[in-house]
Amino acid sequence: TLTTTAALITAAHEEGRGVAAFNTINLETVEALATGAEAANRPLIVQISENAVRYHGGLAPLAQAAIAVASGSTMPMSLHLDHATSERLVGVAVDLGFSSVMYDASQLPYAENLARTAAVVQRCHDRGAHVEAELGEVGGKDGVHAPGARTDPTEAAEFVGSTGVDALAVAVGSSHKMTTRDATLDVDLIAALARAVSVPLVLHGSSGVSDDGLRAAITAGMTKINVATQLNKAFTAAVREQLETDQALVDQRRYLGAGRDAMAAETARLLTVIST
Ligand code: G3H
Ligand code: ZN
Repeated sequence: TLTTTAALITAAHEEGRGVAAFNTINLETVEALATGAEAANRPLIVQISENAVRYHGGLAPLAQAAIAVASGSTMPMSLHLDHATSERLVGVAVDLGFSSVMYDASQLPYAENLARTAAVVQRCHDRGAHVEAELGEVGGKDGVHAPGARTDPTEAAEFVGSTGVDALAVAVGSSHKMTTRDATLDVDLIAALARAVSVPLVLHGSSGVSDDGLRAAITAGMTKINVATQLNKAFTAAVREQLETDQALVDQRRYLGAGRDAMAAETARLLTVIST
């Protein structure tokens, strides 16, 4: 069933649990997410990033496929726009029925991030959509490992109070696009941030964090756990194996199907770690 991100994240936050937010980039990956969620019997936030929108040249086709898959699932699934820097794209997503967006102005100076985020929050709230913003840039989006940034709890409290955001992505030691799971999170900082702000905290770059690291982050107060690369890794490894095993293979369904199965299995496994 198609549900709202607010429903999933609020329930998890109130109960001190984690909620998984996994990225999709095409039809097979959203099918894998739905299959994995059903296998694990866990709800899931499905995210489409601005980068995925750029790859397809538009949001609507993939979004409509994702909405159809989520609607047909036996598990509650919501749609979320991930890492949007375009305010126009935020509007397009809400038009298409996304219940939540991440507006990411984290690369901008603090005052500008705050002002732009506050304006987006106002417009989204007027339309009933939930907004996640980021403070203290989580690095690695350009592929360069950058775990150094840290979000200041006092600044976080001020930012949440002044913008009215519904969830806050924070920099606590993770970095995007890691293919090894050895990032060290600052668990004390997570706890301090969770005390400082009333809204759920979001961990980006969670692929680089071990299962135990994810559990510790959630125990310390992290709520929404974003994973993309780890699922891409599972998909691509299975595709590579199929193509290498059968050099005469032509039918795309043979290798895309193998990728989809592998990603569904990793989705289910990760869900049991994150969403208890
Ligand atoms: O917004 C998406 C996540 O932060 C994904 O990061 O690819 O490093 O898991 P990841
Ligand atoms: Zn991210």
